[in-house]
Amino acid sequence: MTEFDVEVVFEVALKAVKDAGEIIKEAFYKKKSVLTKSCDVDLVTETDQAVEKMLIGRIKENFPNHMFIGEESVAAGENCDLTNDPTWIVDPVDGTMNFVHSFPHSCIALAVLYNKDVHIGIIYNPILDQMYTAKCNQGAFLNDKPIRVSEETDLSKSLVIAEFGTNRDPQKMESVLKNITALMNKVHGLRAMGSAALNMASVAAGGADCYFEFGIHVWDIAAGALIIKEAGGVCLDTEGGPLDLMSRRMICASSEKLALQIIPLLDQLKLERD
Ligand code: IPD
Ligand code: CA
Ligand code: CA
Ligand code: CA
Repeated sequence: MTEFDVEVVFEVALKAVKDAGEIIKEAFYKKKSVLTKSCDVDLVTETDQAVEKMLIGRIKENFPNHMFIGEESVAAGENCDLTNDPTWIVDPVDGTMNFVHSFPHSCIALAVLYNKDVHIGIIYNPILDQMYTAKCNQGAFLNDKPIRVSEETDLSKSLVIAEFGTNRDPQKMESVLKNITALMNKVHGLRAMGSAALNMASVAAGGADCYFEFGIHVWDIAAGALIIKEAGGVCLDTEGGPLDLMSRRMICASSEKLALQIIPLLDQLKLERD
């Protein structure tokens, strides 16, 4: 059996994320070299690649038997199969569009899974120096202070995050607009800040009440899923069942009661799994 000591893995992961933060900070206000992936607004920079490379090196050096799934490695053709082995899931820069524009809402998101359960979740916005952390059954923290989801359960008083994403397929764009239209006059406010992981961190810390998105990937949501759970919130499939991290869709909220008010209003876009 593989040994998995959550405290040892957490210390290495936290140090790696802090070092990744230094790479992002160093590049943040400089001109970036930007490449496109699936379309003109699906961006990657040399910083995304450098952070991912550094994190892979750190894992190999410390835990040569651990597996790795990273956004930019998958983009380069590596497979994205999740096994029961200890697996690090990394989004080196979540909010790349924000990063490219020096809009200070980008982060590193790192989760460590074992037997397909998230045991460690870390989300770090190095520009604003906000470090969100969670270990399974040990609570969720922002800069070492405990965080808790909001107590709001009434949709009409809720701040809801509904991202646009980077998919410019006409059917996907129509679906995004349908959801925004359906929710606009039923909520207190709608937001789209451009980082899935920081959206989830905001729900965990009580700054937003709900966030949903169709088209997200496992690296966008794995860390946030644990942080929200440990902060007392819920992460569900967009049809209300248990969340499948590989399913490309997710709704999270401060309570199931709130999530269940939004779910019937959503256009259930069908997407390919990871
Ligand atoms: C994106 C951001 C964005 C979300 C997209 C993600 P990236 O991640 O989290 O908020 O709407 O679905 O792909 O590409 O900046 O890492
Ligand atoms: Ca991306
Ligand atoms: Ca992302
Ligand atoms: Ca990314």
